[in-house]
Amino acid sequence: MARVKSAFVCRNCGARASKWAGRCAECQEWDSFVEEVDEPSTSLAPRASVERPKRIDDIESAGMQRLVTGIAELDRVLGGGIVPGSAVLVGGDPGIGKSTLLLQAADAIQKRGARVLYVTGEESLQQTKLRAERIGVGSGEVFLLAETNASAIVDAARELRPAALVVDSIQTLYRDDLSSAPGSVSQVRECGAALVRFAKESGTAVFLVGHVTKEGVIAGPRVLEHLVDTVLQFEGDRHQSFRILRAAKNRFGATHEIGVFAMRDSGLAEVENPSLLFLGEDRGGAPGAAVAALIEGTRALLVEVQALVAEAPGRPPARRVTGVDSDRVALVQAALEVRAGVRVGARDVFVNLVGGVVVDEPAVDLAVALALAGALTGRALPAGTAVFGEVGLRGEVRAVTRASERLAEAARLGFKRVLAPRGVEPAKSGANVAVVETLADALRFLAPVGAAPDGSRSRAGS
Ligand code: TYD
Ligand code: MG
Repeated sequence: MARVKSAFVCRNCGARASKWAGRCAECQEWDSFVEEVDEPSTSLAPRASVERPKRIDDIESAGMQRLVTGIAELDRVLGGGIVPGSAVLVGGDPGIGKSTLLLQAADAIQKRGARVLYVTGEESLQQTKLRAERIGVGSGEVFLLAETNASAIVDAARELRPAALVVDSIQTLYRDDLSSAPGSVSQVRECGAALVRFAKESGTAVFLVGHVTKEGVIAGPRVLEHLVDTVLQFEGDRHQSFRILRAAKNRFGATHEIGVFAMRDSGLAEVENPSLLFLGEDRGGAPGAAVAALIEGTRALLVEVQALVAEAPGRPPARRVTGVDSDRVALVQAALEVRAGVRVGARDVFVNLVGGVVVDEPAVDLAVALALAGALTGRALPAGTAVFGEVGLRGEVRAVTRASERLAEAARLGFKRVLAPRGVEPAKSGANVAVVETLADALRFLAPVGAAPDGSRSRAGS
């Protein structure tokens, strides 16, 4: 495939053009073209050894032996451990803990008796050693190399033959045969391609660290995300200690799988019971709160949705949403108004998830609706109630997948009752299931706060 000889590359999608354009014809991004002086040579040099095509029958099936690190949160996100010869891109904001995570992974791999080469392009060997001391990574089979030349890295890895190679970060690498600066689109893409090729031919698992830009994409072309087998995002609020590792793409496992860690003084600790991070103190039993039973990857997770509705006198109302899709909140709000008579009107609406987690499952809708309605009316679900279900435009509560896992997680965490769409079998779960077919059905479970028998809590107005 001959490439267009050109000098402009789209920063967003990696498309090439022979002249500058204000808007990329491929990805429609404005002002994304940058000039690049390089073009990888169009013809490939003949190779010394030539791989011949094989019949499928003649290929030995290698029972894909995964390398289990023993860091369960990482292994699960990878789909059950590291696949030899796979290429994994680990993206995240600077300072979120990518280097810490991968150094700990390197240590875990060495403890299983395998060798790791950790290449640092950003920090000196001394800085990396300091981090290693802090998190208690001893000597052994983890080798460090401070290098940014891609072919020097591949040469070193060929010699050392590690089970895993970590490159921290891809933005610091360069190839001699390209003259543009490290971090430029062509350098990132071509260095990435060379390392992925190395992974495939050597069987070494390659981890590439990539910084995320302000816009949330891994700097450099999207092409890198297509090149690798797995894309992991390391996310979290830097003001809080927990971090979420999420599989955005995985050829060897489920996407949307998450691993939860807490950043401590001595590195990242696994969080085995993440639902506890995402629940408020009164477990959904306050006006403006509702606990959603969600599925992230293979795991069920309880997350508290909180809503606040405030007067917006004499100005256009604002909607501020974090953690869920703002369009879905708008839909749920409209359904509440039109189908269930809950008038939000021209008020400001705030919706937030406890713990700063981000979800994209429509099953969160019912919790959003109940939190919003509760915030408006001062009513609340009884504490210990979890809910799930998608809200439709007719105000109906629609079924979602994997109901029994949601019920099981709710029961495990001591939730007494679950509001669920039709078709859910209560039998096995232990939680008491109340089927709600419409928003109006669900709203009936909201009760004035303080209706408890002892009357100790004050009654909020409605
Ligand atoms: P780091 O792994 O360097 O982040 P990244 O590679 O994504 O840029 O970690 C950054 C932050 O984590 C840094 O602010 C210090 C903090 N940290 C801890 O709190 N505990 C630790 O044990 C370590 C190693 C780092
Ligand atoms: Mg780092």
